[in-house]
Amino acid sequence: MTASGPRCRMLSPDQKRGYAENGYLVLEGFKTPGEIAALRARAAEIVRDFDAAQTRAIFTTDDQARRTDDYFLTSGDKIRCFFEAQAFDADGELVQAKELSINKIGHALHDLDPVFDAFSRGPALAALARDLGLAEPLIWQSMVIFKQPTIGGAVKWHQDATFFATEPQSVTGFWFALEDATLENGCLWVAPGGHRGPLRERFTATDGVCRMTRLDDTPWPDRASARPLEVAAGTLVCFHGFLPHFSAANTSPKSRHAYTLHATDGRAVYAADNWLQRPADFPPRGF
Ligand code: FE2
Repeated sequence: MTASGPRCRMLSPDQKRGYAENGYLVLEGFKTPGEIAALRARAAEIVRDFDAAQTRAIFTTDDQARRTDDYFLTSGDKIRCFFEAQAFDADGELVQAKELSINKIGHALHDLDPVFDAFSRGPALAALARDLGLAEPLIWQSMVIFKQPTIGGAVKWHQDATFFATEPQSVTGFWFALEDATLENGCLWVAPGGHRGPLRERFTATDGVCRMTRLDDTPWPDRASARPLEVAAGTLVCFHGFLPHFSAANTSPKSRHAYTLHATDGRAVYAADNWLQRPADFPPRGF
């Protein structure tokens, strides 16, 4: 939707039915080219100002696993850059330019940066969240995902509720295409209707240690039943927290920038061992 002025987008009955049936919803033209450009420019500034020299130590020490965990686990209320797995050589030097080595920025952009705050909130998103069943939305996480040309890593089948468990399930993903996403540059793939299956895994953090636990042996959908979501820049894709989805590696010369938000319903109980916790004086807020 691109109209200016007060925006109170509401989903049609068909769209609501489609979301309930498929577990996802594609909304073309949700963001304007101007909104996209402003967000991408701000993301580029954050990467430019990011001190790669200091941070690379985290990824190149003997106790790399623990330091990587710490860097990740303490990022829920900060703005941090994360490198692609293949970013460094054996000597700890970046293989290519910093701007082409960052996998993502996370995880509190929406609360700490005014440009990201403006993009992440407003009447349209508030109305949409309500229509998707989030009566008291709380935005826990924001990420800029770069899916860099040639080295953008694959993200295997997963369900977002693995990372944001609530009782009952409520986490909902909001995935904004900042560039055209295609088969060539690693677009999303979803399993339509797969959200009606069980949650297969849980990712938790206890005493600073991350753990992935298998909950259910239901196999991941086979590739033949998966549907690629080739969408234009400005499109918003909404996901149910149980919807299985993945994206392939980007081996093309084109990047595939996206921005995501994950919100839960404040009426549901947010698990105490979810990796992302907020300090009492910095609680998550809605749209
Ligand atoms: Fe995901």
